[in-house]
Amino acid sequence: MRTYRWSLALSLAAVLALGVVPARADHLPYHDPTLPVPTRVDDLLSRMTLDEKIGQMTQAERGSVTNADITGFRLGSLLSGGGSAPSPNNATSWANMYDGFQNAALATPLGIPLIYGSDAVHGHNNVVGATIFPHNIGLGATRDPALAQSIGRAVAEEVAGTGVDWNFAPCLCVARNDRWGRTYESFGEKPELPTQMASIISGLQPLVLATAKHYVGDGGTTNGTDQGNTQLTEAELRAVHLPPFQEAIRRNVGSVMISYSSWNGTKLHGHQYLITTVLKGELGFTGFVVSDWNGIDQIDGAPGFTAAEVRAAVNAGIDMVMVPTAWRAFISLLRTEVQAGRVTMARIDDANRRILTKKFELGLFERPLTDRTLTPTVGNAAHRALARQAVAKSQVVLKNAGNVLPLARENNRIFVAGKSADNIGYQSGGWTISWQGGSGAITPGTTILQGIRNTVAPSTVVSYNQSGAGIDSSYRVAVAVVGETPYAEGAGDRPGALGLDTADLNVINTLRASGVPVVVVLVSGRPLDIASQLPNWAGLVAAWLPGTEGQGVADVLFNVVAPTGKLPVTWMSSASQQPINDGDGKTPLFPYGFGLSYSTATRSAYSQVQAETFDAQSGTQTEATTDTGGGQNVGWIAPGDWLAYTNVDFGSVSAVSVLTRIASGATASGTIQYRLDSATGPIIASVPVSNTGGWQSWTTATTTLSASATGVHTVYLTFTGTGGDFTNINWFLFQR
Ligand code: GLC
Repeated sequence: MRTYRWSLALSLAAVLALGVVPARADHLPYHDPTLPVPTRVDDLLSRMTLDEKIGQMTQAERGSVTNADITGFRLGSLLSGGGSAPSPNNATSWANMYDGFQNAALATPLGIPLIYGSDAVHGHNNVVGATIFPHNIGLGATRDPALAQSIGRAVAEEVAGTGVDWNFAPCLCVARNDRWGRTYESFGEKPELPTQMASIISGLQPLVLATAKHYVGDGGTTNGTDQGNTQLTEAELRAVHLPPFQEAIRRNVGSVMISYSSWNGTKLHGHQYLITTVLKGELGFTGFVVSDWNGIDQIDGAPGFTAAEVRAAVNAGIDMVMVPTAWRAFISLLRTEVQAGRVTMARIDDANRRILTKKFELGLFERPLTDRTLTPTVGNAAHRALARQAVAKSQVVLKNAGNVLPLARENNRIFVAGKSADNIGYQSGGWTISWQGGSGAITPGTTILQGIRNTVAPSTVVSYNQSGAGIDSSYRVAVAVVGETPYAEGAGDRPGALGLDTADLNVINTLRASGVPVVVVLVSGRPLDIASQLPNWAGLVAAWLPGTEGQGVADVLFNVVAPTGKLPVTWMSSASQQPINDGDGKTPLFPYGFGLSYSTATRSAYSQVQAETFDAQSGTQTEATTDTGGGQNVGWIAPGDWLAYTNVDFGSVSAVSVLTRIASGATASGTIQYRLDSATGPIIASVPVSNTGGWQSWTTATTTLSASATGVHTVYLTFTGTGGDFTNINWFLFQR
């Protein structure tokens, strides 16, 4: 724990004051932890040369420096880029590496400790053996900020246990287009969710420095192009992308990382209005701003960086520049800009104050080396148990026809297939051990298949074949664990199709051919375009990118933990809908906030289903009704709205008609469509609606079903038409 050794410091100060031990020549005010941090900063700053100040603003990659460089150039910060690790790659080796670099920094005349950054975006994911937590999109599905804070603390312990004192996390992006390769780094598509889950900052800090990234609007680029252009009015930018950063600042986040993206054509890395006027001025951010990896190179749109870009970035308000390899050139160019007066000393001093303040607050001057008591926390049982809990809470059950879920633990015959069933690398996704992630047993963990095997009783048979070969009708259920292979950043952009790959589709078809009901477990960093295949699946669970603790997926499949996950993003019914977000009027396959439970309490399709008892809805409102029986009705129903009712039991014999209790005072007409299991599922009845004489002038429409309906389903009512609100609904019931 990087805490001040108050007792040691006070006793040392007392001893020195008594003159018993000669004061160290370098025992200066900034060394005194009993002084206020601003006093220490002022004292230290007053002793620094320009080169020492520029060194503090320079962040180099660990692989491009020697200890002599650190000392000679007064470097203030190092980082591990994605996958950049010592060899062997283990916690102790990291701690030794860190301490080596730190001692080089302490060997400088002023002995200013360096601050070391790494992307621990879902656990300390560069370190083999670390606990890998669900990526942010899965945490968003938990809707549990307290859990996120606990995860932040656990990650901080593992990070600090390797010496690293700065985490380039959390990403507080608001992912608005699922085509974006960083969608899984977002907690959700509406600002409320990343804002809520920014609680992770309070878990990370004060043990390590957290980073709110990437400021601002990285998730709003046109077509979801990574590092692209976010074309929004200022009001829209502020409404959608700024709130999570406001919350991060409220939680005293220590650093903010600038986005590669542009706002209306201007690169954020050179945006003085957004960085200095808004972030530091209006929002009052007092930590320090760091650029992204070679981010300043992009300011002028040409490769490499120039003096003008160095000047533009620092004058825009960037305090520390992540310049992984060309750090010598950066130092030289910035020195020239300052000496020429094109970057003021006031700007340099402001940047240094911000950086040094955080170094003092972290306790780096008192405890510069790794706290080895934390090293054993890396991948420990407690953290893995927390991760398992997070995995379970992140699972979203989207379809459960015939209550195929939960799976029976006893006396069952389960066939498991799919490329992602037994693959730690796939279930962890990008930013895991390597930047782009990998395949296979890349780090210790429990695969989803292992989780299934761990859960069943001895009376149950679990067979596995990745391709599905060997399945036959003797099995009671098949589980296809499929989805995306790992990617990070732009490598994950998908401007074209967003469906399953051919291998996955073949696996599912092989399983289906046996006649055994298929439950699909989707391991992906985003919603995928699966609407056309969904009717052939008995069940669907969005597992997201769960990380090393695949046991949590099995926990939900078998109801060891009941499913509570809710979609953090709207699930498209077609890739052509992208971007599709809550409230945009498009009809999704599954809406933002949707998620099934295993409530066995079904409701009969053959008794009145009161319209206001929906389990999910979009765009409607309820009101008191004057219809017979009183109570409420659902109103304000316009084209594009929908209502969802889970666990509607049609029984074994199909319904033949549906009665719908409607009233309409509208001039516009429209149609009510009854669908099974998704908002674009098969239509079983279409009910035309026109004016009935008033919004409380009720009539019962009888409609023959156009397709059969048996078993237990989620019944969706979707609405089409050409005008605005066109109907109220009080209840519906089916008839045989
Ligand atoms: C990457 C990412 C950023 C990360 C940084 C350091 O390019 O954009 O999220 O923190 O570089 O690895």
